[in-house]
Amino acid sequence: MPSKRSKYIYALHYEWLTFLYDPLVRVVTKEFTFKKALRLQAEIQPGQKILDLGCGTGTLSLILKETSPQAIIIGCDGDKKILKMAKVKATQAKRELYWHGALAYELPYAEATFNHVFSSFLFHHLTKENKLRTLKEIWRVLKPGGGLHLADWGRPSNWLMRLTFLVIQILDGFQTTGDNVRGLLSSYLKEAGFVGIREVRNYNTFVGSLCLYKAHKPAN
Ligand SMILES: C[S@@+](CC[C@H](N)C(=O)[O-])C[C@H]1O[C@@H](n2cnc3c(N)ncnc32)[C@H](O)[C@@H]1O
Repeated sequence: MPSKRSKYIYALHYEWLTFLYDPLVRVVTKEFTFKKALRLQAEIQPGQKILDLGCGTGTLSLILKETSPQAIIIGCDGDKKILKMAKVKATQAKRELYWHGALAYELPYAEATFNHVFSSFLFHHLTKENKLRTLKEIWRVLKPGGGLHLADWGRPSNWLMRLTFLVIQILDGFQTTGDNVRGLLSSYLKEAGFVGIREVRNYNTFVGSLCLYKAHKPAN
């Protein structure tokens, strides 16, 4: 699935490091705190269809299923190996979720499929062009009035956050992370047609400032 069109950045940049992803993210970000806060941005109703885009090992997808057991949760990621890890976690938790392999900017879903789309730590893996393509795809697959809930690295809240974010930039590359650090995600959301764009919350972590965004597709 990872294509040659632009470089695919795995969860910890190198595919062979993926086994370290869960323990590392738990320690260096406030993982459960921010993922639960992201979940609370949406009012999820029974039967609604929810997409977790760039779901990785499925931690957020599982939080979504545990807090909304009657909703249909789909985790989608471009890395088939990480999806296997997500499946194992879901089986261990005895939760039924759906896992699909696809690139974020070429989604295999019909228009207006989802009530909400969530995505955490995906956008700093994408070039500007692919961020915009991905946002347009999310816009396409959301129902009118549907919500988008993003968590990703944002503008550093102080010089220490700027300095520590260099760790992520050295790991994942300056090209894809530069937009994040300049706080450009909100303007990309606007360019893709979203409305009601808000930076809901910021967290200082060991490796930079993390921002939660909320936006929605116009109702009609
Ligand atoms: C840093 S991990 C985040 C995983 C998870 N969402 C989380 O919050 O822990 C980024 C994920 O995005 C996926 N990814 C990177 N580029 C992608 C693309 N172009 N299309 C789909 N998934 C992509 C990677 O495989 C990886 O699982």
